[in-house]
Amino acid sequence: MTEPVRAYRRLLVTGGAGFIGSCYVRDVLGRRDGTEITVLDKLTYAGNEANLAPMTSDPEQAARMTVVIGDIADADLVGPLIGAADAVVNFAAESHVDRSILDPEAFLRTGVIGVHVLLEACRAAPARPRFLQVSTDEVYGSIDQGHAREDDRLEPRSPYAAAKAAGELLVRSYVVTHGLDAVVTRGSNTYGPFHHPEKLIPLFITNAIDDRPLPMYGDGLQRRDWLYVSDHAAGIDAVLRGGATGETYNIAGGVEMANRDTIALLLERLGKPWSLVRQVEDRPGHDRRYAMDGSKLAALGWLPTMDFATGLDATVDWYLENEAWWRAVRSGDWDAYYERQYGSRLRTAT
Ligand code: NAD
Ligand code: TYD
Repeated sequence: MTEPVRAYRRLLVTGGAGFIGSCYVRDVLGRRDGTEITVLDKLTYAGNEANLAPMTSDPEQAARMTVVIGDIADADLVGPLIGAADAVVNFAAESHVDRSILDPEAFLRTGVIGVHVLLEACRAAPARPRFLQVSTDEVYGSIDQGHAREDDRLEPRSPYAAAKAAGELLVRSYVVTHGLDAVVTRGSNTYGPFHHPEKLIPLFITNAIDDRPLPMYGDGLQRRDWLYVSDHAAGIDAVLRGGATGETYNIAGGVEMANRDTIALLLERLGKPWSLVRQVEDRPGHDRRYAMDGSKLAALGWLPTMDFATGLDATVDWYLENEAWWRAVRSGDWDAYYERQYGSRLRTAT
């Protein structure tokens, strides 16, 4: 049976000041169809009000956006916000695998306790809103062959992926036990403007601009499936509006690349030499390959629209044109993080 396409007009977007969340807010407000959005964001090191600047500087969009700074695990704060929403889209998470290896606790606090607080507030709200949990292909673990389908086993292998899998399972339990109207998306590796420079593509672009070494983990033959950020946001919206209650949908980029090849494409675009690349000690438990089957979401009418060459060009151009944005992000605690994550690796690199 085909699900009706729903219209939501009052959205609560948690984690909306992050990379993908801010793109989602930008795209939904940009439709200028009257939708109102409340962004709830803790503004961790990864959250950035500057990501919302395109909307705050547009009076028509600014009038439809409210920004609340706070934690999804704060039940007193979350309750009234959820009570006023007709749908909740939860992007809030600690999102970097390497940091989950260094300091896993915040991943559990936001990814498990935080999700639980949101679900309880949805359950308690008189007009129960639809809940969409933004999850990841990393819950499937490393895929040796073929493409993961939604019913495949979850085999998370990093603390990040384990926290995301736990969040999803809580959502499922609230659908079954409490009849909540909830859906889950599993997106693949996402890239594009406003991406925090701790992640592969923006780290290597910004390091290369400054002629700094590029720390490639291991042999660089790990494979990732790349999804442009606005395609990811559109996939999430397609599931919010058309996904069946209790169902999970892969949002697959369909662009499978070895890291080495992605790095070579970036260097080519920037006119920088391969000699910047350093082969450093591998990430512990590094997943070799991610790959998903996207046919379930294709049946709802969503397909990625951005080809990788055009998406990489747009991304490289954005970082070249927005140096002030990424230099501000790469300040403060950045040097201490960089030293902890890469210092000894780079000193012993080949
Ligand atoms: P991000 O780190 O850029 O953004 C996360 C946002 O959540 C930040 O603004 C941060 O301040 C906020 N946040 C963190 N903890 C919070 C809390 N307790 N309360 C309120 N706000 C909090 O991450 P992203 O790349 O935009 O990812 C967004 C979501 O998409 C995450 O759930 C992530 O797991 C998922 N995802 C990301 C990718 C990817 O490649 N980036 C792929 C698939 C799925
Ligand atoms: P990342 O952007 O951290 O995303 P994820 O781990 O969620 O896939 O990393 C993408 C790939 O790039 C992954 O295989 C790890 C690799 N990588 C490096 O080789 N060096 C780096 O400095 C980083 C951050 C990632």
